[in-house]
Amino acid sequence: MALERFEITEKERIASDEYRIAVRAPRIPPKAKAGQFVIIRPDEMGERIPLTLMDFSDTDGTIEIVFQVVGTTTAKLERLEVGDCLEDVVGPLGRPTEVESVGKVVCVGGGVGIAALYPIARAFVEAGNDVKVLLGSRDREHLILTDRIEELDAGLEIATDDGSVGVRGFVTELLLRAIEEWKPDRVIAVGPVPMMRAVAMLTKERGIPCMVSLNAIMLDGTGMCGTCRCEVAGETMFSCVDGPEFDGHEVDFDMLLMRLGAYSSEEEESRKLFAGNADSYRHPCGEGA
Ligand code: NAD
Ligand code: FES
Repeated sequence: MALERFEITEKERIASDEYRIAVRAPRIPPKAKAGQFVIIRPDEMGERIPLTLMDFSDTDGTIEIVFQVVGTTTAKLERLEVGDCLEDVVGPLGRPTEVESVGKVVCVGGGVGIAALYPIARAFVEAGNDVKVLLGSRDREHLILTDRIEELDAGLEIATDDGSVGVRGFVTELLLRAIEEWKPDRVIAVGPVPMMRAVAMLTKERGIPCMVSLNAIMLDGTGMCGTCRCEVAGETMFSCVDGPEFDGHEVDFDMLLMRLGAYSSEEEESRKLFAGNADSYRHPCGEGA
């Protein structure tokens, strides 16, 4: 079988440390649904990282993903340009979001998690729900994808930590107001763990169902290696096959945070090593790609 070429067809810097790329992967869009993710490897020596699908187009056979430059793999992705190829893209993986017509749905996105929230909010709109999207960002510079979200038939409210756009404060302040004034039937949250934990607490106290999307470290993405294990309702779950979305009221967020930091010293060492060679890094389409 011929090797697939996962060519980068678009690259856009959307914040100082965040990029949107479109990648040709024609086998993925026909099967992809909101909430699912892919596991990518930039080159044959690279680690595997999961990235939630931001969009997928059957027409041109591309997927769109957003990444924040935090470690070696995302620093490698930052070096790649349109016309370069990823080594592999596996997916769609994970269970899709359970999208039903429930009435009023609040979608809460924080930071780079806004990219993963976008297709979920769109799917809830398309299912006939009354949708409110609440976005939280550090500042104007880090606020992403508002143009895409504004195109949805949904309400949009924004909070920034420094008040440069929308309300000053955390996105949870918008959520509190939405709960009191709008009385949602369901809340979905995607973003940093402290944000998802805060959303889960607020909704649990008020008896509102809440789903969160866990950003666990992953390796094989098939439920075999155990790397992405987490605890939900006292049971061990694998984010890659049982999730990535879970009932926020039942997630052990402390365990998630602990496992996310498990390799931080190795990641730091690897990042420093790569930084010394970053200027010469390329992965053109061709052998092995
Ligand atoms: P960030 O730290 O800039 O925070 C973004 C917003 O989240 C803040 O502006 C605020 O509104 C809200 N927030 C943060 N902490 C909060 C708290 N304690 N209480 C209430 N609200 C809070 O976000 P970032 O640096 O862009 O996010 C990076 C994180 O998001 C990474 O940890 C990444 O792994 C995670 N992420 C998760 C997913 C997912 O599927 N869950 C997807 C992409 C990224
Ligand atoms: Fe290996 Fe989920 S990534 S079990």
